Amino acid sequence: MARRNKVYEGKAKILYEGPEPGTLVQYFKDDATAFNAEKKATIEGKGVLNNRLSEFFMTGLAQIGVPTHFIKRLNMREQLIRQVEIIPLEVIVRNFAAGSLSKRLGIEEGTALPRPIVEFCLKDDKLGDPLVSEEHIMAFGWAEQRDLDDMVALALRVNDFMSGMMLAVGIKLVDFKIEIGRVWDNDFMRLIVADEISPDSCRLWDIESGQKLDKDVFRRDLGSLTDAYTEVARRLGVLPSNVTHAPKPTLIN
Ligand code: TMP
Repeated sequence: MARRNKVYEGKAKILYEGPEPGTLVQYFKDDATAFNAEKKATIEGKGVLNNRLSEFFMTGLAQIGVPTHFIKRLNMREQLIRQVEIIPLEVIVRNFAAGSLSKRLGIEEGTALPRPIVEFCLKDDKLGDPLVSEEHIMAFGWAEQRDLDDMVALALRVNDFMSGMMLAVGIKLVDFKIEIGRVWDNDFMRLIVADEISPDSCRLWDIESGQKLDKDVFRRDLGSLTDAYTEVARRLGVLPSNVTHAPKPTLIN
């Protein structure tokens, strides 16, 4: 393979220069981290599953008119994406209380929220991605009021789409995180969904049993993460044939 220039390496993905200006290749690693990388592991097959799942969700979003960075999948671990200028905020949407919201406000995990709640965290590993308010965002210039309105609107559309997709396969979308980037078409700036949408960045609970099918399986040591993500992919019908948990080939004498 031709040598490629690495543009950025994060905890779970690597970005390489793309074949054309304005494009990047996004490579999904098998690495998993939690608690700001205090906990780390390599989970075989995770990158392959997240590549497929993110493709599936981003393609569906584009089909309902929500713009995303996804262009096409290139292979098992890579996809071609539009280069964006990432807004340094994680946008979280919550439908049910869980995780840091439950901890911060003392609300039992699983409690239905009266309406979807949108939160912003500053993307800064050194600070542990702190929760920030719209006042902070505007005062420090991370985004403008108009961007914020567009970001909330995008996040709520993603929430409705993802909630519906998941409900159809017996999964409750508890919460999720997205990242949003700016692109310019000539002088016109728009915001589009970037990064990834996968069980790494969502909380997904089986509707019947409450079983966790997302990265909390890793964060909280609840079993096999690959089994959980494989189950999500299987239910959605996006499991590539014979990847992940195919039994190891046996030697026939
Ligand atoms: P939280 O309850 O820990 O704040 O997480 C809310 C949602 O955001 C949950 O679906 C997991 C996701 N998330 C990420 O994708 N990346 C992160 O670094 C964190 C902390 C949460």
